[in-house]
Amino acid sequence: MFHNAVRILYFLVLVLFNIGKVLLKSDSEHWDMVFNEREESQLGWFEKDFLQTFRLLNLIPDWQKSTILLPGVGTSKLVEELIRHGCRLILNDISPEAISKVNSRLLEKKANITWLCQDISQPLPESSPPVDIWIDRAVLHFFTDQNDIKGYFANLKSYLKPGGYAIFAEFSLTGREKCAHLKLHRYSVDEISDRLGESFKLISSFDFTFTNPRGEPRPYIYALYKRN
Ligand SMILES: C[S@@+](CC[C@H](N)C(=O)[O-])C[C@H]1O[C@@H](n2cnc3c(N)ncnc32)[C@H](O)[C@@H]1O
Repeated sequence: MFHNAVRILYFLVLVLFNIGKVLLKSDSEHWDMVFNEREESQLGWFEKDFLQTFRLLNLIPDWQKSTILLPGVGTSKLVEELIRHGCRLILNDISPEAISKVNSRLLEKKANITWLCQDISQPLPESSPPVDIWIDRAVLHFFTDQNDIKGYFANLKSYLKPGGYAIFAEFSLTGREKCAHLKLHRYSVDEISDRLGESFKLISSFDFTFTNPRGEPRPYIYALYKRN
């Protein structure tokens, strides 16, 4: 009787431990799973073209000659577009799976790329080169902890050159509260301006409702800033 109770208890602990492991994935495991499970064109943020990003990029003189950092690049084909125009790229993502997918796509291309597979809210390596342009699409809004948000902006301010530009595309205040099963911190242009501080000037911003691959509307804000 006693032995049976111990056995059942042991079994229950084992089950709970494994459920915990499934539910409490690290951020990189979570994103690896997302990129493993779905084809690129089925991802909720998949874009066929990058018209809204180029609408802002084209306001930057000579952007084609720039070094551009893409935090949380995912598997976005914006990478190929920027390479085609001659840009040097620093590609970041927390997901080794996403980085490896992009890397294998680019094997044939002799592109000038620095890879940074890490959490972008944590300090970047000192060897990481300074950048002319920072382009974030749908990454900043995943940080919900104030320390992580501060860490993200600290990196942006450390690595963006004076005179450099930052582009943001984030879920707006009217957007959904969750994406990829994660809770979001949605943005207004005012909040991004406040977080960047006075050394950044807002050049242009607009609202844009993105239609995801399931045909559902996702309201975003887009904003371009120049650093003094
Ligand atoms: C919604 S997807 C957007 C991907 C890409 N920017 C695009 O527009 O297709 C969010 C991306 O941010 C990455 N990510 C999430 N948290 C991150 C973090 N803390 N540091 C770096 N990348 C992160 C995810 O792995 C994922 O690739």
